Order: sequence, then C-alpha cells, then structure tokens
Amino acid sequence: MSNEFESVQVGHGEDLMTLTRWVIAQQQHAPEATGDLTLLLTAIQFGCKFVASKVKQAGLINLLGLTGAANVQGEDVKKLDVLANDIFRNALIASGKACILVSEEDEKAMVIQDHGQRGKYIVTFDPLDGSSNIDCGVSIGTIFGIFKVEDTENPSMKDLIRSGRHLIAAGYCMYGSYCEMILSVGNGVNGFTLDPAIGEFIMTHPNIVMPPRGKIYSVNEGNYKYFNEASKKYVDQVKQKYSARYVGSMVSDIHRTLLYGGIFGYPADSKSKKGKLRILYEVFPMAYLIEQAGGKASTGTQNALDIIPEHIHDRSGIWLGSKEDVEELEACYKACA
Ligand code: AHG
Ligand code: MN
Ligand code: MN
Repeated sequence: MSNEFESVQVGHGEDLMTLTRWVIAQQQHAPEATGDLTLLLTAIQFGCKFVASKVKQAGLINLLGLTGAANVQGEDVKKLDVLANDIFRNALIASGKACILVSEEDEKAMVIQDHGQRGKYIVTFDPLDGSSNIDCGVSIGTIFGIFKVEDTENPSMKDLIRSGRHLIAAGYCMYGSYCEMILSVGNGVNGFTLDPAIGEFIMTHPNIVMPPRGKIYSVNEGNYKYFNEASKKYVDQVKQKYSARYVGSMVSDIHRTLLYGGIFGYPADSKSKKGKLRILYEVFPMAYLIEQAGGKASTGTQNALDIIPEHIHDRSGIWLGSKEDVEELEACYKACA
C-alpha cells in the first residue's frame, strides 16, 4: 500500500463500554449496593436520549418557541422546557426508585405518593438548561443531582434543605454538536457520548481530570456594571491574560471548562442579589462534578458545596473551574472584603 494511506484497524471498538455497563460494574464493586441507583440512572439515561431526539427535531415538529406561560421564577417557559420536564418526571416516577423530585419547572417538590412506586432517592433537575439558546440551535442540556432521603416513610423538607455534601451522584447531558453525558457517582468523572446508530451512550472521556489552570474565562460581561468590587477586580485582571468564551447555557460553558480548564462564573450582583443559578439543580450538581474532576467551586467566600439553600428554588452566586483560577478569584474577594 502506498504510504499516503494509513492502515485502519478493522474490528476496533467491538467491546464498547456503554453507560449501562459501566454503572452495573460500579454496582458490582460496591457490595452493599442494591441496584436501585442503577435503575434510577437508567431512567435518567432514557430521559436524556428522549430529550436529545426531540431537540434534534424541534424545528421540524413545532417544538420551538414559548408556551405563553411563566414558571414560578417568573421566567418565560419554552415548549421544550415543558416537554423535557414531562419526560424526566415520567421516567423517574416509572423507575420506582425516586422518593422526591425537584424540578426547575415545578413550583413544589413532588413526593411520590404511591408507596409501591416510592424509592429512596431525591432527584433535583433542570430538565432543559440554556432555554434562551433553544430557538437558535445552540447547545443546551439537562442537569441532575441525586441525594438519598433520611427516611423513605417520612420524606420532609429537611431532606432538601441540606448542603451539597449530601449528594451521592450528579451529572449533566449536553445536547450539542455531539450528545454527551457527564456523570460522577463519587469516584471521579466520566463522559459518555451518545452513538445515535445504536442508541447507547459510549464511554469516550474516562476519568476526566481538569488542568490546574486554564486559559479561558467565561462570564456574562453584559452584567459587569452590576458586579461587586471583587468580581470587577477579578474580571479586569483575568481579561489581561485569558480568552473569553460565553455560550449562555451553563451545561455547555461547564462542559468546555471541564475539558479545557479555566473559569466560569455567574456572580451575585446588584441586579441579581442572590445570583441567577439555582442551588439544588444547577450549582450543586456542577460544583460536585467540578470538584470530582479536581477543580474548585466557590461563591467567592465559601465552598459552593457547603451552601445550605433556604428553599428549593434558592439561588447563589457561583464560580467554577480550574483550582488555581478559582483561588485567584477568591483572593480578589479577600482583597475587597
Ligand atoms: P435555564 O435555561 O435553565 O433557565 O438556565 C439558564 C441559565 C444558565 O444556563 C446560563 O448559565 C445562564 O442562565 C445564562 O444567563 P444569562 O443569559 O443571564 O447570561
Ligand atoms: Mn438552567
Ligand atoms: Mn432550565
């Protein structure tokens, strides 16, 4: 063969590590595991595939645009927000392993009333993250966090008003130029890409470890005028040395930050006094993943996983990213205190 051609290994990739296979393998390593988390993750995985397929068709089957309603947070609800919420709610209930569901789109937490269908897990989720990007085809996602209830017979608000240290798993799925599930069950972070030909998530990013420092900062600088002194100081400083990237879908901005390093922030400011991002289904799951990948998550003055929300839709300012970058940000908060 002419040396202009590279010989391709035929038969490569016949032993695929699917997400399901990986989750079952984790279960086998934990002798006390009952298989319940495996079933819950199977439901989430199904929800993500279902939403991924709808996102792809959205422009063709009248799924773009607004419903005309607003959610409890006063935000306009898009058709895909509602569809994704229904998909995840149904899948999670059907798994029989959920006890409480907390969704961005539902004002109240939902307790599974049927004891036959009630499991021990709390799932907090943002069914469709990056809603403002839906109609122009920019990457969007789903974010989820998983906790355990203290007492399956008596689930209460106390189960929800806890720090992020109680998370037992978290992840997100990005519906982008490829569809990727990023997951941690507390022993590192792995990435699985959806192979549409076989309908399975395949491990493509094993053991993601963030670089200690990056070259990108990611923040909505349109809000600069509202920033406090510490955020202004940090942004003024970081833009002297880094490139800027800001998608405006947290999932996509975090995905880039996980893979390339750098820092993403949505700080509390004079317009959004408690920040914009919601603690239970945006801040906690992403902080957990970033920490599991060796990065850091901070409000500026406190580790993000130590926040205790006041209510289920409570918000917090947040900075996430490479350890040294987030420490530089924290130094600005100290200097401005
Ligand atoms: P959601 O679409 O679930 O309401 O979340 C939107 C969030 C998040 O994805 C993103 O980081 C942030 O809003 C972007 O906000 P701005 O448009 O204010 O920059
Ligand atoms: Mn969101
Ligand atoms: Mn959302």
